[in-house]
Amino acid sequence: MPERDEWWRNAACYEVYLRSFADSDGDGLGDLPGLRSRLPYLHDLGIDAIWITPFYPSPQVDHGYDVADYRDVDRRFGTLADFDGLLEEAHELGLRVIIDLVPNHTSAQHAHFRAALATGSGSAERQRYHFRPGAGRAGIRPPNNWRSAFGGPAWTRVTGAEGQPAEWYLHLHHPGQPDLNWANPAVGAEFESILRFWLDRGVDGLRIDVAMSLAKDPGFPDLRRGDDQHPYHNRPEVHSIYRRWRTVLDSYPGDRMMIAEAVAPEASELARYVSAGECHQVFNFAWLETRWSAAEFGRVIKGTLESVRAVDASPTWVLASHDAVRTVSRYSAPSRAGEAVGLERARAALLVMLSLPGSAYVFQGEELGLPQVDVPPAARRDPRWFQSGGSMPGRDGSRVPIPWTTGAPSYGFSPAGSSPPWLPQPASWGELSVATQERNPASTLAFYRKALQLRRTRLAGLDDGVVILPSAPGTLVLARDTGFVCALNCGSRPARPPAGELILSSTDWPDSLLPPNSAAWFQLSAPPRPNRGRPAEGHVEPKGGSKAGAHPESQTGRC
Ligand code: BGC
Repeated sequence: MPERDEWWRNAACYEVYLRSFADSDGDGLGDLPGLRSRLPYLHDLGIDAIWITPFYPSPQVDHGYDVADYRDVDRRFGTLADFDGLLEEAHELGLRVIIDLVPNHTSAQHAHFRAALATGSGSAERQRYHFRPGAGRAGIRPPNNWRSAFGGPAWTRVTGAEGQPAEWYLHLHHPGQPDLNWANPAVGAEFESILRFWLDRGVDGLRIDVAMSLAKDPGFPDLRRGDDQHPYHNRPEVHSIYRRWRTVLDSYPGDRMMIAEAVAPEASELARYVSAGECHQVFNFAWLETRWSAAEFGRVIKGTLESVRAVDASPTWVLASHDAVRTVSRYSAPSRAGEAVGLERARAALLVMLSLPGSAYVFQGEELGLPQVDVPPAARRDPRWFQSGGSMPGRDGSRVPIPWTTGAPSYGFSPAGSSPPWLPQPASWGELSVATQERNPASTLAFYRKALQLRRTRLAGLDDGVVILPSAPGTLVLARDTGFVCALNCGSRPARPPAGELILSSTDWPDSLLPPNSAAWFQLSAPPRPNRGRPAEGHVEPKGGSKAGAHPESQTGRC
């Protein structure tokens, strides 16, 4: 039987996009001492863990996801001693720390890739990466048709010792991020040693970047639509890597965990990453791709719960990240609703997410209701913008440095007299700052604090069953085992709320009806009664049934 009380199973985790969180030394980039100085803020917010994006030495072509040395800290972000101090203080405050591990590719400046370039075709050094001859006469075309996620071919040609055009190397992202050859045991051995380096320092978890792409089809076939097996996504070989890593993590004391960043067309494919002896969690990005719709939210919730239960894992929920358009703007855009409506919806979606079993991953600035920023093209820094020749706007708009205080030039992100922040902050940033919102009990920050605190007190210890109750069109009503209910109204008219004690609402109610674009938590005096003889709409039950004595009807699949 798996342990049920591991910290990560029901944690609220906060993503720190380090270069945009807090700058201590005035270079316009966030850093580890800056983050350390804000740990009390994160503690008071009510989260359980932080995930820190990469801080390793790096040329920063992809803002740290191009690692030149996996066992050190980039001087722009601090030192190893700063990391150790941060970890110690986080632990003292009861916060767990998850670091970002990038195993699919290194930086082109990594010593191993430089050695590979310095040696010839077929060398042991080149075997750590994917070097291949080109196609066509004299190898002038890339070896196959694979494309980089940032635009353009996934292959770059290198020159030989005499300066002549020679082999091509694979990079599924930027040319500065050559893909590692995981079929080579030397690569696996190196990463196991890197894992131990950070586990020995005491990290609680690892987020595995691009976890689905480490294994490639050794035949390097062209990518064709409709092929049964993708040549570099979710291949069966990738799972043996995480099984090996799991034995490493399990050999350490404490609940060390790893969460995979993977996408797959089928939820069951994603669930493979969290099957027995593999990763503890996998990010569930389904919600990020879902429009504002009660029916679609319900489908995502039901599908997610069913797929992870089938392998006895715990679900994760994500509404925002450094790779996605911020929630407030996502929910304003489709219907051309204004940003005010987007914010109402983002607050409502948070209540739904926090009412669910599993871990909620919150992205920095979500708690301030920050919108996506339209970063002027001249100031953009994302490789996706450059590599796509401007056809993809890139992800800078969700990465603008956090406003801590009301005053320009950097709204407290950097100390006075510093270099400008690495991405420009809009003039409205001061109104959204932590300082401004701390003075307003109705602010989004105050709401997040309340919601996270109540999640701890009201939802801790509940079994992981969810019942989706029949409700009016455009609404979604979810119940947990003690009669804790979350109601969401995505419709255009006010809706009748459940008859229970109101615990928290995402917005003020002008009358007794739940307004459009809002959600609220209620406590019923007893778990919801079944509609005899009528199967529940989207009933989702915990594996093994609900707790003895609590909501026995759900064991029959009826409500
Ligand atoms: C990270 C991105 C990064 C990419 C390549 C992603 O999963 O979240 O920010 O660009 O991996 O490392």
